[in-house]
Amino acid sequence: MDKMDVKYEAQYQQVHTARNLVFNEKIREMRAEGKTVHNFAFGQNPFPVPQVGQEALKKHVGENLYEAVQGLLPLREKIVEQHGVEHFDASRVLVGPGCKELSWLMMHVIKMPVYLVSPTWVTYESQVEAANKEFHYIKSGFDSNWKITAEEFKKSISKASTQTGGLLVLVNPCNPSGQSYSRQELEEIARIAREHKIIVLSDEIYAFLSFDVLPTENLISMAEVYPEGTIVGSGISKWASCGGWRLGYHMFPKELAGLMPRIKAACSWSYSCVASPIQYAAIELLQKEGINKESDYLRKCSIIFCAVATYTANSLRKVGVKVHDATSGFYLMPVFENCRSEDIQNGTTLADAILAEGQVAMVECGPCFGRDASELSTRLCYIDFDGKLALEKLELKKEDGLTARQDVEKFDCASQYFMDLVAPNMVKAVAALTGWVEARSNK
Ligand SMILES: Cc1ncc(COP(=O)(O)O)c(C=O)c1O
Repeated sequence: MDKMDVKYEAQYQQVHTARNLVFNEKIREMRAEGKTVHNFAFGQNPFPVPQVGQEALKKHVGENLYEAVQGLLPLREKIVEQHGVEHFDASRVLVGPGCKELSWLMMHVIKMPVYLVSPTWVTYESQVEAANKEFHYIKSGFDSNWKITAEEFKKSISKASTQTGGLLVLVNPCNPSGQSYSRQELEEIARIAREHKIIVLSDEIYAFLSFDVLPTENLISMAEVYPEGTIVGSGISKWASCGGWRLGYHMFPKELAGLMPRIKAACSWSYSCVASPIQYAAIELLQKEGINKESDYLRKCSIIFCAVATYTANSLRKVGVKVHDATSGFYLMPVFENCRSEDIQNGTTLADAILAEGQVAMVECGPCFGRDASELSTRLCYIDFDGKLALEKLELKKEDGLTARQDVEKFDCASQYFMDLVAPNMVKAVAALTGWVEARSNK
């Protein structure tokens, strides 16, 4: 407690430590005791920053001016080009120190109900709570691939204080489920959103790491089916492994011309501008890497992620764990219902037992991700491998017209042989987890 008489806003009275930080502590303790701990708990891309990005950052280290709040114009132009959605243009892109900061500010600026998908990225609920917003979860389940339907969306709207206006936060591809929406599924959601004048923040930060689109193409964006009401959020944290660089952005449609300047004003009161050397380096990064570029970096990363995801999901299914194949990024959302027992009755006891007995760290979905505490689902980040080594070991076969998944299938990349070569750590981690399941499951 503070010695001085500090008063707190209601939403800051009880500050809980995030579950992944609790895990961090436990992992550190276990490692200090000389124990091996396999790490599926943290959503951090294991690949190195692309070489061109590293070189560009060195080159621009002398950039020291406060740049425009909104971000450098050539950077915003490259961002729009990378996404290839006609409706956006550089004048309506807002660059921030991560898209997390931009959604934080957005939640404070708007005054309307917020709709979150269950499951969703852990941060969104904290942000709407901190901003004191009315919010409603939209249900999903394993059978709908953790995706919402128009029906469930409508049910949530009916519970809100108003049925007109609001903000839906759609994480697509999803953290924690690793699932993405098809055009038809997005159209269904857009139909309801349009009917109720609800705008959508479509968080597409994992979209460039999609396994079922060609290397020259983008995953279908909500902005293509609902252009007038969609703000797209993304950044370089995931696909370019630049989480610590802190650069993300939101793209606004012209129909939301009133919202952007208000958030921009909040940006100017908050962070002024994203670090200038990072912005200049990001221009070169986007020029030379990413979708439809000559470089193989993104293609290789997507193939390796897809191979590791497939190997992990296949191994879990063999021991009776329910899990969908990932479609993008670096998350799976397995359900360990076959391990329910007297002492494992909720996600927390499940994750604690897997760590203590199996030496595998993995965060339960539970309330952190908008799920029920009793559900035995977890978020599995399949990132426990040396990304630099994996990139060196993967020999890219020059076959055009293949998606990452087709590449993995054609060249048998989810095989034991390939995994031993490219991601040997993952082999050990998956064996530790499946071994634990075998010992604990109710056969
Ligand atoms: C779904 C999702 N959105 C946004 C972010 C954060 O992005 P940024 O690094 O641009 O703030 C993350 C990272 O953990 C994420 O998983």
